[in-house]
Amino acid sequence: MCGIVGYVGAKDCSEVLVSALSKLEYRGYDSAGIAVFEDGKIRIEKEKGRLLDLQKKMESDGVPKGNVGVGHTRWATHGVPSSVNSHPHRGGDKVTLVHNGIIENYKELKEQLIAQGRVFISETDTEVVAQLMDMNYEGDPEKAIAKTLAQVEGSFALGILFADRPEELYAVRRESPLIVGVAEGESFIASDVPAIIKYTTQYYLLEHDEIAKLTHEGVSFCDLEGNSIEKELKVADWDQEAAEKGGYEHYMLKEIHEQPTAVKTTLTPRISDGMPNLEECSITLDKLKDINQIYIVACGTAMHAGMVGKYVIEKQCKVPVIVDIASEFRYRDPLIKEGDLVIIISQSGETADSLAAMRLAKKMGAKTLAIVNAKGSSIAREADMLIYTHAGPEIAVASTKAYMVQISVMYLLAFELAFAKGEITKEECRRLTDILLGTSANIEKTIELVDGDCNTIAEALTEADSLLYIGRGLDYALSMEGSLKLKEISYIHSEAYAAGELKHGTISLITEGMPVIAVATQNALYDKTVSNIKEVKARGAKVILVCDEQAEVGADVADFIIRVPRIEEMLMPMLAAVPLQLLAYYASVRRGNDVDKPRNLAKSVTVE
Ligand code: AGP
Repeated sequence: MCGIVGYVGAKDCSEVLVSALSKLEYRGYDSAGIAVFEDGKIRIEKEKGRLLDLQKKMESDGVPKGNVGVGHTRWATHGVPSSVNSHPHRGGDKVTLVHNGIIENYKELKEQLIAQGRVFISETDTEVVAQLMDMNYEGDPEKAIAKTLAQVEGSFALGILFADRPEELYAVRRESPLIVGVAEGESFIASDVPAIIKYTTQYYLLEHDEIAKLTHEGVSFCDLEGNSIEKELKVADWDQEAAEKGGYEHYMLKEIHEQPTAVKTTLTPRISDGMPNLEECSITLDKLKDINQIYIVACGTAMHAGMVGKYVIEKQCKVPVIVDIASEFRYRDPLIKEGDLVIIISQSGETADSLAAMRLAKKMGAKTLAIVNAKGSSIAREADMLIYTHAGPEIAVASTKAYMVQISVMYLLAFELAFAKGEITKEECRRLTDILLGTSANIEKTIELVDGDCNTIAEALTEADSLLYIGRGLDYALSMEGSLKLKEISYIHSEAYAAGELKHGTISLITEGMPVIAVATQNALYDKTVSNIKEVKARGAKVILVCDEQAEVGADVADFIIRVPRIEEMLMPMLAAVPLQLLAYYASVRRGNDVDKPRNLAKSVTVE
């Protein structure tokens, strides 16, 4: 999972490529590179590290001057992050390309190519495609691309320059995403819309095995047999400002603050006459009535949103829900029956394991419902039913606002399903929906209320080697997300534990001063969680308690208390999530980490 871009037009190509890559660094940031036709010849500049490192290198080397080129930002899969493994890769004299994805049969192909006298300089699977394309090129780019695609297996998006065609750029994709942007006298390729939004909002979605040809005259498309294709022009509704930091120090902080709007924008169009209405997403009461088993399949944060969904749906709708990690689901022979509902949750809509899990579920006869943020993404396009979350572009690798809208949709769906199943009355459904919509204002209030405290309390976490998150029921589901957030950006080890399970082994980890973040927002479970808190406190833990503003907390329970507004108990995760996000954020800032681009990670995981 990397970011690729390309440009043909009158502007300074290097400038456009670097600017577009800066919006794709969330996809990977181990190295960056560009290739530009300069005086009719392809000049490559690439460097290990961030885009900034490439820019510094070009300051001393000189920036390539030209109007046609491709660029790449990498998340290493084959071969360590290094200058030589960076893209673009040359295949010989004829072909230079950038690649996002994985070539599964690269080893066999490489052996064959070596046997034919080809010499490789990198460890990448990408160089194999470049060499193969170079071998296959006899003056006809489309034919060379088609021949190469017949030989490679895997997922990929490619931006290709042919040395003897300095006015042209070619692109093709299979599985990995790629869009083709157009504006007056210029065109672009990119892995994602935010990369080109500064230049244009108009774009085409390239489908599997479609070839795009970009020239100064415009853009054309054909299939692998060379038949030309007419495509529908799309218009992005994300503006440039939405993809910029807007005065915040980090995207993550900006995105935390965008949560109230994101929730409102996601829910409002799906509520009519005070009731959930998902008809525009092809979800009707009749369809919901027949559902007897639900699987929620996702990865990381999106899977944690599914955990909240499980607690809510089972309680409200009396329908069993199994939450599965997508990478496990796809290989564990799940017992799906025809008619089961499989819900796939994904911010990017491109997560390889989630996409594969959805395809498997469809094949097994399940109905699939995707909850996706990125418009036009693969998961969105292939699902039977689709609920778009309207969080806008999420740039920080650590997901915050996408999680919030995902759980808001889980609630809305649960309320409609409960009504469809006759588990709640229309009045109750209206009441809950109204409170759900009101969470937008309450999230805003919560941010104001807890921001300062979280910043201060984060100090108590920064020196910790390890800590625990504990909670029961929905608080446990939320703790999982709190723990992941802290781990991924602060690099402090943490585990989320069901509070009642601690004494079965994990409590032995508690040592003097170890921070334990306890979430206790569920009334019925409050006393029980407090007992568990006392157990860890008695063993020296430093307890940070997240509870509601009305909770009665004894003097000996917590070292720090973070209070959030009290709303309907079931909906408390939407507010309690905020301090967990902010604690992780401030811990990361205090440790001097790169908050938006944590080490070893990438935003969009398009590899297994
Ligand atoms: C979130 O903070 C993570 N970086 C990660 O767990 C993410 O949620 C996961 O990779 C799934 O991504 P998706 O929502 O785009 O499918």
